Amino acid sequence: MKDIRILGIESSCDETAASVVLNGRKVLSNIISSQIDIHTLYGGVVPEIASRKHMERIDRVVNAALKESKVSIDDIDAIAVTYGPGLVGALLVGVSYAKSYAWALNKPLVGVHHIEGHICANYIEHEDLKPPFISLVVSGGHTHLVKVSDYGKYEILGRTRDDAAGEAFDKVARVIGLGYPGGPKIDKVSYEGNPNAYSFPRAKISENEYDFSFSGLKSAVLNELNSLKMNGQTYVQADVAASFQQAVVDVLVSHSMAAIDEYKPECFAIAGGVASNSHLRKAMEEACAAKGVRFYMPSPVYCTDNAAMIAVAGYHEYLAGNISGWDLNAIPGLKLGERN
Ligand code: KG4
Ligand code: ZN
Repeated sequence: MKDIRILGIESSCDETAASVVLNGRKVLSNIISSQIDIHTLYGGVVPEIASRKHMERIDRVVNAALKESKVSIDDIDAIAVTYGPGLVGALLVGVSYAKSYAWALNKPLVGVHHIEGHICANYIEHEDLKPPFISLVVSGGHTHLVKVSDYGKYEILGRTRDDAAGEAFDKVARVIGLGYPGGPKIDKVSYEGNPNAYSFPRAKISENEYDFSFSGLKSAVLNELNSLKMNGQTYVQADVAASFQQAVVDVLVSHSMAAIDEYKPECFAIAGGVASNSHLRKAMEEACAAKGVRFYMPSPVYCTDNAAMIAVAGYHEYLAGNISGWDLNAIPGLKLGERN
């Protein structure tokens, strides 16, 4: 089969990223320009600032990705871009750029679902991973348990009813004074804390055992801190962090194992920013091993937002003939499995 080179572009949140991927697996370049330093000043992502920064950086980021890949633009087979879900203004920068670039160069344009990208990040370093498998996607905006029946074919088994797992990490980190972004900070400080210091709730949803809820856990942490404060007591930051994180990890693992018991997949893969959490990685690895299920996870750099994963997802959509029209638009609430 002819070699296929996809240029991927990602701008759905606070990372401006571009990448060139060969045959849906081999990353030839992966440029990520993070805005974390800027948003840290405000304690979270400011959408208006994110869009402006994407505008300032996207051209340089795409050119750097092409240069590093040593692939001439003439040899790019298609341009893949995240068109949802995400921040509308941020998405629009990537979509408009990719559209004009593809149109000017007469290349096919492929709109990619951001969550599909996260799942596809697993193909980069695992040559042997192929559908069908089950994936847990845990990011700043999403918590999904997904059955991947084929490339590009997804069935959502469960999703969060309120906060995403990453959002809960970020909020709890803020209230215990760790700042933004909360996930990596809680991950690190937890090594110094006792995960059993506080018994925070592990929510179960009766209507669907695969759905998640993290808002009660977040409130439980806040209530605990408030009552300690009212009684004039202090708390150990690392203990709160470790106990909160243990509650999240327990729920993510138990829901995933329940899905494994029901659907009996041979493989299970985690994805998304929270999948870079070292405690979750270890717990999932052990739980899958105990069930005899092959476990996959991307390296941390492919868990958090990047464009290599978008190029990989774009490759499969391209092979399936899913080429987008010039009317491709940013869709902030795009559902997984829908194509526009
Ligand atoms: O996938 P991602 O980069 O962006 C979205 O699509 O949302 O995920 C970002 C989220 C943030 O909430 C961040 O706090 C969380 O992933 N995160 C982590 C870790 N690294 C990033 N959460 C827990 N532990 C980590 N090590
Ligand atoms: Zn993401």
